Amino acid sequence: MKFTYSNPTALYFGQGKIAAIAKAIDPAKKVLVIYGGGSIKANGVYDQVAAALDGRQWLEFSGVEPNPTVETLDKAVALIRKEGVDFILAVGGGSVIDGSKYVAAAACYDGDGWDILTGRHRVSQALPLGAVLTLPATGSESNGGAVITRKTTKEKLVFSSDAVFPRFAVLDPDVIKSLPERQIANGIVDAFVHVCEQYLTYPAKAWVQDGYAEVLLRNLANLATQFKERDSDSWRANFMWTANQALNGLIGAGVPQDWATHMIGHELTARYGLDHARTLAIVLPSLLRNQIENKRVKLAQMGRNVFGLIPGLDLSERAIASIEDLFRSLDVPVRLSEAGINDPEAADAISAALRTHGMEKLGERGAVTLEVVRDILVGAA
Ligand code: NZQ
Ligand code: ZN
Repeated sequence: MKFTYSNPTALYFGQGKIAAIAKAIDPAKKVLVIYGGGSIKANGVYDQVAAALDGRQWLEFSGVEPNPTVETLDKAVALIRKEGVDFILAVGGGSVIDGSKYVAAAACYDGDGWDILTGRHRVSQALPLGAVLTLPATGSESNGGAVITRKTTKEKLVFSSDAVFPRFAVLDPDVIKSLPERQIANGIVDAFVHVCEQYLTYPAKAWVQDGYAEVLLRNLANLATQFKERDSDSWRANFMWTANQALNGLIGAGVPQDWATHMIGHELTARYGLDHARTLAIVLPSLLRNQIENKRVKLAQMGRNVFGLIPGLDLSERAIASIEDLFRSLDVPVRLSEAGINDPEAADAISAALRTHGMEKLGERGAVTLEVVRDILVGAA
């Protein structure tokens, strides 16, 4: 086990914590508040942010869409340059926070911002940013990753850099009150798959990472089982904290990681516009069945320690079935056809897109080749 672990994002967690941004941002900064389609105006979050920024120099940029696009975000970059903004406050879900990370990095780069996604430009400098999270799911509020779409070419790519870790994030579980059920279910699935990507690989004898991953998975399974209690303070707080911890770097430190489900999922969103979490619920069970021999030991461990299954020869198969049942219990489709995608070209198109993006050998062992991706998607039809 060898790793460097640093998570520099300060977290303000709990009811009423949005007010903390008043002290978290240097009063001398000119702030750009970036948000999405307006849910924050309807649920009172915008008003709380405005109250906390009272007396400061600040302006706003709205309209960042789910699966944020460079086409929209580049307008925020232009605004920053024109107005001399020197701090970004992202108020929203993963899309707004990811979009703000791109804006923070692109504002410090003279070339075409898309270079950040293709890897032509490596981000080492970005404007400082903070986040007010409104949707627990991605972990973007305290990690250095972002996923950005280019509408014109239907591409969705990832970049990551230490420079775009938010300086702070506010996690007030009360924001969940206004979330549509579909987004809550998506959030549970996304966080669950984040843990799987870092845990369901091969045994690495990493007791801390495995044990903590199992706690997070059990929490997420319990949140799904107790979905009817989602209006309680404790349900909301545990959901928000668990989703955050699922992708803040800790459980992935020094262990093999997979991420094939995510890379295939991003291509599915780019091509069909499917919600991020829904692509994962479709791909993961099929990928696990395809890769079962490579993952048998960890699947069995998950079956025992997360789902409490009785040991037996088919324990790994039953663990996969339990994962699929969990997604189904949340009303999230687990087949392309259930999500309304009946495209006979899907498997070929997605593997071709992965080839274009240089992802020809995915997974912790590089075993998920383009041929395997095709089989996984045929299995997920
Ligand atoms: O646009 P607004 O009005 O804010 O509405 C949003 C949006 O329509 C709404 N919403 C958010 N908070 C709400 C709310 N509605 C009512 N009440 C609230 N409190 O929910 C809708 C979806 O929001 P979005 O931000 O798109 O969802 P999510 O947080 O699931 O983010 C998904 C994006 O994050 C990327 C995904 O690929 C996708 O683009 N990811 C980012 C990761 C990262 N940075 O580490 C990792 C993930 O694996 C993921 O890939
Ligand atoms: Zn995800």
